[in-house]
Amino acid sequence: MDYSDLNNTEKYADVEERIRYVKQINQLSDPTQPFSHKMVFNKQSLELKMNFLKATNIKNLEREEIFHLFKKNMMESYKNCPWGWQERKKRSEMFHCDARYIIVRYLANNELAAFIHFRFDLEDSIEVLYLYEIQLKPEVRSRGLGKYLMELIEIIAFHHNMKKVVLTVLKNEEKVVQFYMSQNYEIESYSPKNSFYYILSKRNHRLTNV
Ligand SMILES: CC(C)(COP(=O)(O)OP(=O)(O)OC[C@H]1O[C@@H](n2cnc3c(N)ncnc32)[C@H](O)[C@@H]1OP(=O)(O)O)[C@@H](O)C(=O)NCCC(=O)NCCS
Repeated sequence: MDYSDLNNTEKYADVEERIRYVKQINQLSDPTQPFSHKMVFNKQSLELKMNFLKATNIKNLEREEIFHLFKKNMMESYKNCPWGWQERKKRSEMFHCDARYIIVRYLANNELAAFIHFRFDLEDSIEVLYLYEIQLKPEVRSRGLGKYLMELIEIIAFHHNMKKVVLTVLKNEEKVVQFYMSQNYEIESYSPKNSFYYILSKRNHRLTNV
């Protein structure tokens, strides 16, 4: 179906249907469940396990661990861009009731190694998995874990019929931009032209009506 061929009433009905669908996916207790066999990473002398959690189910201690990793990785970059470092605002974004996490821990001692924050949402009236954060501790980087987590999130998104995986990246984080480009992400048509960030996305080619 070509969205532009619909009349206004049909468009509203279609958007209503999409809103209902995303709400339904958000109600899943564990959207990673069909891929439980992929919730491990045993490569490059890393032995890691992964766990899905809704932000509302993350206990305070674990929230602090997650926020600490985010802060260590990103505070300087935020300070150096127009967003600035706004800790309270960032905390409420990260632990919003719609936030979903994959938390990566060392098998041996349960220490945090990395996490992903994502949400199922409508972006420009399209069902998307929005990747809010992918954050790895320095010692687990450049060993394929970032790529593995991106592939995992895409599998989860497309299994649940999301039409795209979308993310925002700071333009001056050139290495991170290169990382996403190496994973075949493209600059979105609605990514603001003269801004300090890009909106990147990867399409679900199985669903052709985007
Ligand atoms: C960005 C990040 C997620 C990448 O994960 P990673 O595990 O280090 O990357 P990988 O080892 O999986 O690399 C995957 C691919 O990306 C490429 N790549 C990774 N880092 C790169 C870099 N700095 N520059 C260019 N390419 C890079 C690799 O060459 C690799 O390609 P290949 O599979 O063809 O060899 C990770 O480094 C990180 O968490 N950084 C700090 C937090 C951050 O900036 N997060 C993003 C916020 S938007």
